[in-house]
Amino acid sequence: MHFHIPRVHSFTDLVDQVKDVLKHQKHEKESEAHRIFREAAGHNPKGVLPQTVNPDEETVPGIQHPGSTGVIYCSDRAMANGFNYASSHEWANLGQGAPEVGPIPNAPPRPESIPLPVDSLEYAPTTGVKALREAVAHLYNHTYRQGKESQYTYENVCIVPGGRAGLSRVAAVIGDVYTSYQIPDYTAYDQVLSAFKRLVPVPTALDPKDKYQLNIEQTKKDIQTQGLAVILASNPRNPTGQADGYRGNDLEKLTALGREGTTVILDEFYSWYIYHDKESDVGKAVSAAKYVEDVNDDAVVLIDGLTKNWRLPGWRICWVIGPKNLITALSQSGSFLDGGANHPMQLAAIPLLEPGRALQERIALQKHFKAKRDHILARLHALHLDVDIPPTSTFYIWLNLEKLPVPLNNGLTFFEELLKEQTIVIPGIFFDINPSHRRNLFNSPCHHFVRLSFGPPLEDLNKGISHFVSLLG
Ligand SMILES: Cc1ncc(COP(=O)(O)O)c(C=O)c1O
Repeated sequence: MHFHIPRVHSFTDLVDQVKDVLKHQKHEKESEAHRIFREAAGHNPKGVLPQTVNPDEETVPGIQHPGSTGVIYCSDRAMANGFNYASSHEWANLGQGAPEVGPIPNAPPRPESIPLPVDSLEYAPTTGVKALREAVAHLYNHTYRQGKESQYTYENVCIVPGGRAGLSRVAAVIGDVYTSYQIPDYTAYDQVLSAFKRLVPVPTALDPKDKYQLNIEQTKKDIQTQGLAVILASNPRNPTGQADGYRGNDLEKLTALGREGTTVILDEFYSWYIYHDKESDVGKAVSAAKYVEDVNDDAVVLIDGLTKNWRLPGWRICWVIGPKNLITALSQSGSFLDGGANHPMQLAAIPLLEPGRALQERIALQKHFKAKRDHILARLHALHLDVDIPPTSTFYIWLNLEKLPVPLNNGLTFFEELLKEQTIVIPGIFFDINPSHRRNLFNSPCHHFVRLSFGPPLEDLNKGISHFVSLLG
């Protein structure tokens, strides 16, 4: 489908057109893409009276759908548009929240087999295999804490079966307190924050004017006036591709809040995906571990793992790092939530955490992904789709569509139209972490955005952009 901006002949013409735009598409009810979204199980707006039960959805007594995460919804919609594993090579998946997993130039060889010693057939402890916990602590001390008196030990590390399992374990031990989350941020926080009913989620809008950085002064005020007890944020940030700590000392200030009575939880899954300006910085990562003073006294919780930085999403080996009294709490929540990470994969992960090998991975990854980022930004520029705030980290581009003609200027419709061109992106509204769900999605600050991933290999990215060309005419 092609959309063109209508030609304006006179001022009255322009006024009529603006009126027309305002008349149409002010509310999600007028948009087909939004109607499809609302029809998915669990996607009804919450808190609208009278409260209704959807008879097609709620057929299993007592079961309520939590709502699908962005990635699941987008894959379901792609399948409804003809995507399947046999035809997947014809498609470009720029929605994919995973990095390419094959070899990249100058990176250590990819692991090809794993041993299965008899001991590994037993359950592993819910906090993980001790040798792996030690390897994680050693890597963090070596990378971020050289020369500091307080060092991480295995007692500061809990191995978890994936990042989301780590987040759920942490969320399950947060008490009845105000917990702040950011808009926009990683889609799964929506369901995680809704599923654990004790904590009380409080949103903070990240401002494009601040380049989506957390405003520390405002956060301090919120702590004082609203009584925030816990802050949750991804850093580097999904979906905006910005990072506190990339420049300046904001990450240091944020980490310091963990010494002043607030628990700071940072999801650092993209800590290696940093695109430095100076060649001499290549290989440097960003983590609040650098600014923690006392590993057991500072209430700073870090979540990371093999998923993105090691490009091994299928391994499901991740970790949470924090004061040892937090780790014992996570052992308890892990014992009823997930039962611990896969034992053989934990053993196989140990050599991958050797600091020299990790540095080689980081350098290769930063060079390779920076080249992909620059290439995609240049291709978008050629399509007059300049990115307001280009990513300095992660492998995501937060693309504002506001300048496109209606209705392509909203993320959900753009997504539906691109599916017809066999390309997947993620509509921005999925990053509007709103556990109670908005009543009119058109009011979301993420309404005009889509997230593009440059995680996939370059040829897939090029295919996707050429489909943008077909859509935009
Ligand atoms: C910020 C962030 N945290 C955590 C995860 C999920 O990690 P995992 O796939 O290991 O559950 C993702 C994946 O998209 C992410 O973007």
